[in-house]
Amino acid sequence: MFNQNRNDFPTLQGENPPAYLDNACVTLKPQSVIDSIQRYYTEVPGCGGRSVHRYGTTVSKAVSDARTKLAKFLNTPSANEIVFTRNATHSINQIAHGMTWEKGDVVLTTDREHNSNLVPWLQLEQEQGIDHRVVPSHPDNTFDLEAFEAACADAGDKLRMVAMSHVGNLDGVAIPIEKITSIAHDHGALVAIDGAQSTPHMNVDVQALDIDFLSFSIHKMCGPSGMGGLWGRYELLDGLRTIQSGGQTVQTSSYTDATWAAPPARFEGGLGNFSGMMATGAAIDYLTKLDMNAVHEHEIRLNTIMTNGVKDLNGVSIIGPEDPAQRGGICSLLMDELPAHDVALLLDEAAGVMVRSGQHCVHSWFADRGHPQGSLRASAYLYNNEEDVRRFVDTLNEIVQTLS
Ligand SMILES: Cc1ncc(COP(=O)(O)O)c(C=O)c1O
Repeated sequence: MFNQNRNDFPTLQGENPPAYLDNACVTLKPQSVIDSIQRYYTEVPGCGGRSVHRYGTTVSKAVSDARTKLAKFLNTPSANEIVFTRNATHSINQIAHGMTWEKGDVVLTTDREHNSNLVPWLQLEQEQGIDHRVVPSHPDNTFDLEAFEAACADAGDKLRMVAMSHVGNLDGVAIPIEKITSIAHDHGALVAIDGAQSTPHMNVDVQALDIDFLSFSIHKMCGPSGMGGLWGRYELLDGLRTIQSGGQTVQTSSYTDATWAAPPARFEGGLGNFSGMMATGAAIDYLTKLDMNAVHEHEIRLNTIMTNGVKDLNGVSIIGPEDPAQRGGICSLLMDELPAHDVALLLDEAAGVMVRSGQHCVHSWFADRGHPQGSLRASAYLYNNEEDVRRFVDTLNEIVQTLS
């Protein structure tokens, strides 16, 4: 379906392109993004937001354009609500450590969070006495709305924050955000969504979802590495402390005081990753030309091939529901006997199939379920084709039959 798009990705050209199926970790970059990175260094290597010479003003304009493009992509009310960060981890930390907490404030997460949306809350629990609670999922990892409602009721007026990943990197399972948001807001809590695995793969409209914060990874959206983003309702951003103060973050300062800059500048302390921000504009241009619903459907089609090809393998089981429509492009496999890292190495060596192995930063889930060896995770994106996923399936079948 997106076969034409393959031509845009340099690493997919040549005689033997890899079957790159590690997209939940980081995506490949189209030529336009690479060109944009290069353009900064070769044509306008100046400082945006401050210098008034030509390099400075060109970069400032490009950064502002990129912010506006992201705002449109996520349907945010204002481009000033988009903060450029290093990655989703930084965005989540900015929320967690930028708010003022009271002892006993309750923060709810699911039981299948990436460390980036777990450890900041654990840190707040250790250092500031908040009460982090985990909402258990159904046995097949789908969201348990009843357990969530019970957890909200149990927290009562102490409930401050519901912080959950939209789509899990462990299994590709999405949570019902609209329902969650409505319940959380009824309890007076804020909703901070970790969109690292949703913004690259589907339409995410922050106003339709009625959420309060969204963290995302631009490097998983065909954008440059070292780039992430944070969106928040303006009045909420305006109430946050920055976790990195310094240049750019103040309107003015004296020897004794500083006046904070308005969002987003307050959160973008120090000289920015300007090539990354410019290339973010190119990445969002690239995604904006696509139908994100079609990207999602395409990934499910590829996952159907992967699922059907591996589900009956001896000693192999899929994490999450068997129906690929509930797991987007992610096929994450527990293997009874075979070490996931060894299988991942063999897949690459034997057939150029690149997947991820291990605990994918969801140590808590693997520890709780007693699978310390982790899983083998194949994750598809728009530029993958049937040949890629068949190569994965066929090679994995051969490996499992040979080794077990
Ligand atoms: C669900 C989820 N949340 C957070 C992160 C962290 O993202 P980043 O590497 O941009 O900090 C990831 C990365 O894999 C993720 O999958």
